Amino acid sequence: MTTPLPTIAIRELTKNEPVPYDLLVMADPSRELVDEYLPDSTCFVALQTEELTGIIVLFPLSKTSAEIKNVAVKPEFRNRGIGSLLIDHAVKVAREKGYSTICIGTANSSTGQLYLYQKLGFGLTEIRRDFFTRNYTDPIFEHGIRAEHMLVLTREL
Ligand code: ACO
Repeated sequence: MTTPLPTIAIRELTKNEPVPYDLLVMADPSRELVDEYLPDSTCFVALQTEELTGIIVLFPLSKTSAEIKNVAVKPEFRNRGIGSLLIDHAVKVAREKGYSTICIGTANSSTGQLYLYQKLGFGLTEIRRDFFTRNYTDPIFEHGIRAEHMLVLTREL
């Protein structure tokens, strides 16, 4: 990973700003599912000067646990630390809001994401079997592996 860009700022996306669906569907191809969790979520965006480079969506799963439902960085800005900055920001906000855990789910086929989340202190806690085969009409393949199950990783706060 190269050094994070010094000009990256993270701020909350206000409810009257347009939702950057183009970014959100990179992490979650189901617009229907995105629209289900978005109203109750808080979104944070990463900006380099005026350009929106990434987004993260924090959802209140229970009184004690928050979930990162979506994290995405524009392809041309990846591998510069922006995804890690967004996840660290969500962890900080969840801690400040008094949650005791934060979790993030990804597919069994998402090897790079599984690596990144574990590097950032998340550990495997649950497998939601057949989540992707049940909830997504088109099959999803990554690295020749079918996305079938959701692996949930959790970090204590
Ligand atoms: N393939 C390979 N490596 C990956 C991948 C991947 N898909 N995703 C992350 N990594 C690894 C990189 O190898 C790199 O490792 P290093 O730091 O040891 O060099 C590190 O993760 C990159 O870290 P950052 O630069 O902090 O992250 P980045 O800004 O690239 O953002 C993100 C990571 C958000 C996963 C980005 O790759 C992306 O937008 N991917 C497409 C959308 C996506 O898959 N989102 C997550 C879905 S799960 C969910 O949303 C809850």
